[in-house]
Amino acid sequence: MGTLQIVLGGLVIIVSLLSLIRFYSAGFFTRNEDICRQFYGQKDAYDGFDIKALSDRVGEVLDRMESLQEKLELKVKEMEKHKEVLDRNNITRLEYKKYLEEEVIRPLYGAHIALRQIRLPKVEGIRNSTMKEEPLINTFVIEEIRKYITPKENRIGKINIYGTERIHNTIGHACVLYKKELEEYMGYDIGSYCNDDWNLAQKLMVNGCDPLPRRRCLTRASKVYQKPYPINESLWRLPDGRNVRWSNYQCRNFECLSSKNPKRGYSKCVGCFEMEKEKLKWVTNSSLPVDLLINDVLTIKPGEIRIGLDFGVGTGTFAARMREHNVTIVSTALNLGAPFNEMIALRGLIPLYVTLNQRLPFFDNTMDLIHTSGFMDGWIDLLLLDFILYDWDRVLRPGGLLWIDRFFCSRKDLDDYMYMFLQFRYKKHKWAIAPKSKDEVYLSALLEKPSRAI
Ligand SMILES: *[C@@H]1O[C@H](CO)[C@@H](O)[C@H](O)[C@H]1NC(C)=O
Ligand SMILES: *[C@@H]1O[C@H](CO)[C@@H](O)[C@H](O)[C@H]1NC(C)=O
Ligand SMILES: *[C@@H]1O[C@H](CO)[C@@H](O)[C@H](O)[C@H]1NC(C)=O
Ligand SMILES: *[C@@H]1O[C@H](CO)[C@@H](O)[C@H](O)[C@H]1NC(C)=O
Ligand SMILES: *[C@@H]1O[C@H](CO)[C@@H](O)[C@H](O)[C@H]1NC(C)=O
Repeated sequence: MGTLQIVLGGLVIIVSLLSLIRFYSAGFFTRNEDICRQFYGQKDAYDGFDIKALSDRVGEVLDRMESLQEKLELKVKEMEKHKEVLDRNNITRLEYKKYLEEEVIRPLYGAHIALRQIRLPKVEGIRNSTMKEEPLINTFVIEEIRKYITPKENRIGKINIYGTERIHNTIGHACVLYKKELEEYMGYDIGSYCNDDWNLAQKLMVNGCDPLPRRRCLTRASKVYQKPYPINESLWRLPDGRNVRWSNYQCRNFECLSSKNPKRGYSKCVGCFEMEKEKLKWVTNSSLPVDLLINDVLTIKPGEIRIGLDFGVGTGTFAARMREHNVTIVSTALNLGAPFNEMIALRGLIPLYVTLNQRLPFFDNTMDLIHTSGFMDGWIDLLLLDFILYDWDRVLRPGGLLWIDRFFCSRKDLDDYMYMFLQFRYKKHKWAIAPKSKDEVYLSALLEKPSRAI
């Protein structure tokens, strides 16, 4: 037994030494900027450096380690089978098995994985392309980001449910502009608690680092989280403030978010955290002649409006009202200075945490309704709006309704925006313009996507 132990130990040492020597002879440990350039630089930087040899060496080491690992695991399995014999004969053999598992297999596995994670440019290009390395892989230094964006090959010989050979975890390309912030965001210990840094995450997202990488740390939650109110109460009741982590907001409870408080810390959708005001929206005639009531909209297509999207800033009131009409609405929400997402979820509705950056996560021709208010107004770039509107058109089903609610812009821009909305030749159920101030106007419209016979 002692001999086996020595042999195995020796084997491990030999393998390690072999790999070291080969790395060394390939110049892997030479501290030389040229080498780095050869690794990550342009094509001609490969000159005089046999990168193919290096990748072959690494491949060789990997194979050796893999076969050693298999051999060792087999041995342990064998011992497991003859456990009783081991037990009776010699207690130290059990200990020996434990030793093998803990001291040999586990470190070997760790080394194996570590080696697998060495990222080397591929001379022949990755997967038949001329790209030498995975996109963005060498932009980031933090290992966790590199691990995340490295495509994950399926287990040997398997095709996944998508019919692809690997899974690409994606990040927004603008992440490269916020390298420092992203590295801070991803600089955690795996398995430990994350920092309470959703505001850093949101800052990255709204600046175009969207999607963000996933993280492998545990999100903090309120220490005094209470079970939410039952659904028959939660829709119209201000949630329990203990269910929100307030540390990144100016306020410390929901009452503080009232429009009467000048230090409420947010400026979009002021008053949205006052249920008395919210209860009036879309059900009572407002002072604005452009406003539509939910009842009026739903009677246009009785029973046909079942699912939809509310794109805007709000606390889910539109979705709550629609729920009472048995319509399921998903509400987009960003936490712009106040806990909009938490509020919507605590009301028992679905917050969709998305920015304007991305294509909507819905399939073509699926939604009965898109309602938008409070979000897009005269600041929005026309080209950006064009892409957004085409995306909404894609998502709406034929016969679906686009409800533009209190869009506003300066009077002189109105023609441009009107063209934007009218270009799709939707059927106009309502189209109303009213003055907002001296220079600004409101536009509300209810438009129906036609069926397209192509
Ligand atoms: C286990 O076996 C070894 C040799 O096979 C012997 O030296 C040792 O004393 C044994 N230990 C016990 C607890 O039986
Ligand atoms: C790469 O090219 C080879 C030969 O041209 C082909 O057999 C193989 O399927 C290609 N692989 C991929 C991933 O396209
Ligand atoms: C909500 O429903 C529960 C049981 O389903 C009931 O006990 C409670 O009184 C209801 N609350 C209201 C406000 O209707
Ligand atoms: C809103 O006003 C219209 C006409 O101005 C009226 O017919 C309707 O009953 C009013 N609805 C409500 C809910 O007050
Ligand atoms: C919603 O559905 C429930 C159960 O099917 C029904 O009782 C209720 O009348 C519906 N409400 C509306 C407004 O259609």
